[in-house]
Amino acid sequence: MKMIKMTIMLAAFAMVMPISAETTEDAAPADAPVASADAPAAPATVEEIAAGVCAGCHNADGNSVIPMNPILAGQHAEYITKQLMDFKATGDESPKRNSPVMSAMVATLSEEDMKALGAYYAKQKTTTSQIAADEKLVEAGKILYHGGNLSDEIPACASCHGPTGAGIPPHYPAIAGQHAEYTMMQLELFNKAERGSDDNNVMQQVLTRMNPLEKRAVSAYISTMR
Ligand code: HEC
Ligand code: HEC
Repeated sequence: MKMIKMTIMLAAFAMVMPISAETTEDAAPADAPVASADAPAAPATVEEIAAGVCAGCHNADGNSVIPMNPILAGQHAEYITKQLMDFKATGDESPKRNSPVMSAMVATLSEEDMKALGAYYAKQKTTTSQIAADEKLVEAGKILYHGGNLSDEIPACASCHGPTGAGIPPHYPAIAGQHAEYTMMQLELFNKAERGSDDNNVMQQVLTRMNPLEKRAVSAYISTMR
């Protein structure tokens, strides 16, 4: 990312500055070439990581077309960064979010990379459009999403993910337009308490009250939201 390169360059410049200010004789040619010639190979930019590593499954701009791979375009930066960290095993502890595929992906990423990737996907536009087949299912999901289900004490999804599904940064992810299959899979994982990134078990509590049909309906509706 340009911003990061700039920051690194500024930092390098700031370190060179005081020395060259004192030793005036070789000040002129010293600073510019030093940084590039002696520094280790420049780390991959966020665009290179996204296009080279992540694109195969999420597309270069984060608009995954594979139903089990989440769309990342337009997601909140902080949320993406947190999920990437939660896929990573730290020391002896197993990752909070269990996905062998994603854990392999984040193994070599630094915290800086994860922040840069969050910012990168957050500014991508959503282009994927989806048509859910079953109108009745979508309609039932819509009612549940916006109003919850009083008798089963299911809260409205809209109360945390917003009426348009745009979420509320940093903790509540955007979910509008997400693939129904991916959403359904995540609801199952929350339900079985197999997604530990949900720090206060908020989603788990919501999910234990939902039946399979409600999960499918709300997933279908979410995929149609814009
Ligand atoms: C081989 C396919 C594959 C590759 C390559 C891949 N991912 Fe993923 N990604 C997935 C799958 C599958 C999931 C869903 C994991 C789960 O919850 O079980 C996922 C989930 C995610 C999530 C969580 C999104 C959410 O809404 O919670 C993020 C963020 C993410 N990937 C970012 C990346 C980044 C960044 C890269 C590149 C460094 C990458 N992925 C490379 C398959 C892939
Ligand atoms: C009280 C607040 C709250 C309510 C109500 C709520 N959610 Fe969530 N939801 C969260 C939080 C917090 C997370 C992020 C968990 C994490 O970091 O792993 C989340 C995550 C999710 C995700 C994962 C998104 C992704 O990209 O992986 C889905 C899907 C989701 N919620 C769907 C729903 C649905 C459907 C409903 C209504 C039935 C609902 N939520 C109600 C707080 C809430």
